[in-house]
Amino acid sequence: MRICRSISDCRAAVKELCATDKTVAMVPTMGFLHAGHMSLVHTAKAEADHVVVSIFVNPTQFGESADLDAYPRDEARDLDMLRKAGVAVVFMPDVETMYPAGDETIVETTRLANMLHGKVRPGHFRGVTTVVTRLFNIVQPDVAVFGEKDYQQLQVIKRMVADLHMPLTIVGSPTVRDEDGLAMSSRNVRLSAEDRQAALVLNQSLTAAEAAATGATVADLHKAIVDTIATEPRAILTGLDIVAAETLNDIDGPLTGPTAIMISVAFGDILLIDQRVVTP
Ligand code: PAF
Repeated sequence: MRICRSISDCRAAVKELCATDKTVAMVPTMGFLHAGHMSLVHTAKAEADHVVVSIFVNPTQFGESADLDAYPRDEARDLDMLRKAGVAVVFMPDVETMYPAGDETIVETTRLANMLHGKVRPGHFRGVTTVVTRLFNIVQPDVAVFGEKDYQQLQVIKRMVADLHMPLTIVGSPTVRDEDGLAMSSRNVRLSAEDRQAALVLNQSLTAAEAAATGATVADLHKAIVDTIATEPRAILTGLDIVAAETLNDIDGPLTGPTAIMISVAFGDILLIDQRVVTP
């Protein structure tokens, strides 16, 4: 596995991989990898001949510098996991490489970035699309894989790639869950034993909404989620969005097509998110 910290080294490494008409799938990450990331790597392996993973904690997508400073990092462990998974190249740039002095170009999806999670985290998705564009320009992959768990991020990136005619395919990879249904997240380790158990209510509420989806209205899905979360006193429902799956537009009345349900639930100061796309 080749580890590249400069753009020229990364480009040379990818060029070598592609020398014999081989294809490259990329998995952009911010490191501190867990089984959810590794499932993106496995999806990427099935999509192309070689896998390139980037590890870059992107400052422009963090609101508070305290959140950026607190972001967990473990380079040695990450590299070990990627080596064992058969990744060909890891691109690990520093901030000055990604954002050179005097830099002033941003990329933004004007509507999708400023709705739903984007309203409570202003500038977040602009930071994501800006860094992902730069990563794509450096690596030039044929395919890039993103988790469905960050559902709005996936839609924002698909829109950007379509609008800017970027020559690659975006693949969404299904959310990885622990055996009991809790979606994997680096935040799960911070939950107390009681909250870890209580957190099962996220998946349970989405399953209840999915079971009710045939012939349902948006209000029925809303009620299924709210009622299920209310059965767990430790859980505070902090966000519930039920929107058209591709455009993320608000919908009302009976479901007429694929519908995304996005929830965020707080356990003390730990916020967990989950999502499901249901069809009527
Ligand atoms: O999902 C993430 O980890 C980040 O938002 C991404 C896509 C790597 C961009 O920094």
